[in-house]
Amino acid sequence: MNKLISSSTFLAAFFATSAAFAACTTDVAKDDLTDAQVQGLYDCVKEKLREGYASQGDAITKDYQGWKAAATLPAVTGTHGKRFLMTFANDTAFAEYTKFSDERGPMPVGSVLAKESFNVNKKGEVKHGPLFFMTKVAAGGDAKEFGDWFYAAYSPKGKAMKIKQKFCHSCHGAFEDQDSLGYPGEDYRVSSN
Ligand code: HEC
Repeated sequence: MNKLISSSTFLAAFFATSAAFAACTTDVAKDDLTDAQVQGLYDCVKEKLREGYASQGDAITKDYQGWKAAATLPAVTGTHGKRFLMTFANDTAFAEYTKFSDERGPMPVGSVLAKESFNVNKKGEVKHGPLFFMTKVAAGGDAKEFGDWFYAAYSPKGKAMKIKQKFCHSCHGAFEDQDSLGYPGEDYRVSSN
């Protein structure tokens, strides 16, 4: 009896582990992953990724989970360490951000964009990446030289990372006509309608 219990416990544990394990790894090279395969990896890692971000209790590392996604899929654009990036916009930002147009108006003060990130290493294992934020602040303050944006990033373990505003803005500032925003790749933008 004892033996039976322990072996079925073992089997249950084995299947649970292997299912999670199998789904969060891939034997396809990162550059060859199809959209469906990327979605599968994201579905697998999402919960753990979010648990890690929120684990230090900073409100924003949890709040963004309730915002609307501005991308249809985490995509690689070659920036942010060539990671898969998934963008979210808060209510203040969403309508304006998702116009994705040069004719777009300025982003309203209080707009926040969030970006989850993960990567796939050479062994095909999913690795958690940082959580990035940009917040539009009132014009003319300390952030004036950074387009009135405040940049922030959290490690996969939820710790606020020491970043230089200048580092982030040195790249984002190049998107002059888009209020310093890079936007998700064209194939992966949600529509604002
Ligand atoms: C080498 C250039 C580069 C650097 C440096 C950089 N970014 Fe980005 N960032 C981009 C590009 C390009 C995008 C849009 C690409 C995408 O979403 O796939 C983007 C998107 C974002 C977004 C989503 C909003 C948007 O622009 O559409 C946030 C939030 C963000 N970055 C935060 C940061 C933070 C915080 C830092 C500094 C720690 C940083 N970025 C550094 C290039 C950069």
